[in-house]
Amino acid sequence: MTIKPTEYRDRREQLMAKIGKGTAIFRSASLAVMHHDVEYAFRQDSDFYYLTGFNETEAVAVLAPHHPEHRFILFVQPRDAEKETWTGYRVGVERAKEQFGADIVYPIGELEEKLPEYLKNCDRIYYHLGRDKAFNDTIIAHWQRFIAQYPKRGCGPIAIEDTNPIFHPQRQIKSSAEIELIRKATAITCEAHNRAREFAKPGRYEYQVQAEIEHIFRSNGGLGPAYPSIVASGANACILHYIENTRQMQDGDLLLIDAGCCYDYYNGDVTRTFPVSGSFTKQQQILYELVLEAQHQAIARVQPGNPYNDFHDTAVRVLVQGLIDLGLLVGDIEEIIKEKKYKPFYMHGTGHWLGLDVHDAGVYQHGEETWQTLQPGHILTVEPGIYIGPDIKPAEGQPEVPEEWRGIGIRIEDNLLVTEQGHEVLTAAAPK
Ligand code: GLY
Ligand code: MN
Ligand code: MN
Repeated sequence: MTIKPTEYRDRREQLMAKIGKGTAIFRSASLAVMHHDVEYAFRQDSDFYYLTGFNETEAVAVLAPHHPEHRFILFVQPRDAEKETWTGYRVGVERAKEQFGADIVYPIGELEEKLPEYLKNCDRIYYHLGRDKAFNDTIIAHWQRFIAQYPKRGCGPIAIEDTNPIFHPQRQIKSSAEIELIRKATAITCEAHNRAREFAKPGRYEYQVQAEIEHIFRSNGGLGPAYPSIVASGANACILHYIENTRQMQDGDLLLIDAGCCYDYYNGDVTRTFPVSGSFTKQQQILYELVLEAQHQAIARVQPGNPYNDFHDTAVRVLVQGLIDLGLLVGDIEEIIKEKKYKPFYMHGTGHWLGLDVHDAGVYQHGEETWQTLQPGHILTVEPGIYIGPDIKPAEGQPEVPEEWRGIGIRIEDNLLVTEQGHEVLTAAAPK
């Protein structure tokens, strides 16, 4: 199961149809080096991967739809027996042409020399200024040379335009092959959560649960965790990105697990929260049911045509009403929502796009008032929660939180596909 070469080609064609006389440039991810030459596992740049399927560092893809001979150009590391002995196989120049469908492939060392050929007659350069400042400078320097020549030539790139606004709407709508890969990632993710629920018990350590989860990711062919797995027992669950996973679980704890499998770079992102000894305390149960109700109502708002903020606003309203009913918030619901006085309990958004990136490409809003509309093919998370840290500070004018409610953190997160009819919960196999 993977994306076929024809789909990569179609993706490039779709983007090239948008850039017209422009030239688009994409760079692979760099190798991350820890220290003394030890490398982290390589993680390809998602834009680069989406357009090429090429999984090596030190590569550049150029799309030049106006060029008479070469519309898709790849620059890659050449084969090198000695280097490959140390750092692994390379596809190399010859094989990249046949395997990745480029019109021409050059060794990466020729980038400086060859790139002007694909810029000289374009009207603009599409490039997303990234974290690699040296590469940004390379592109800007090429552009500057063409600007300097413009009076004589009367053509060439007059601007660098950010690629994302024209490109990312394409990544937002998932193809059927992408949906299948996310189904695979979410199925493995659910299996791992189910194993974790069986395995977790008082006396075991959070990292042991993490090991069970990540064993299932990898043994099913996943690349590993989509993000650092959060295995947070007791009050640790109130730390949103708790990843130490060092505590020994105790009787009476809730365990919040936020973990997802990455499969062929497509991701699951699921959270489940449950009592490690099998039964809730009264306060835990009340709050769990409140979060679950907020999630049910939010999920019901995931419908094609609905604005993106609708499911978040729905979750907030249910949570705030519940906290008012419990006396943990006081006052008028509209004012609490407007002034965000619920934030000490619920400080994050209710979801995000999901795909090749865990927080996937694409905008949520078009200016201050207008939200992105949900469309079939969107995949997103719905993940409300309540977090009552041991030292929670109430918002101004709000009461102190009584001791019995403190140290409880709950999040429930599912992954949804927006369909023509409504939505499909891709992560229903992990019970709530
Ligand atoms: N695990 C990251 C998130 O839920 O957004
Ligand atoms: Mn998550
Ligand atoms: Mn998430």
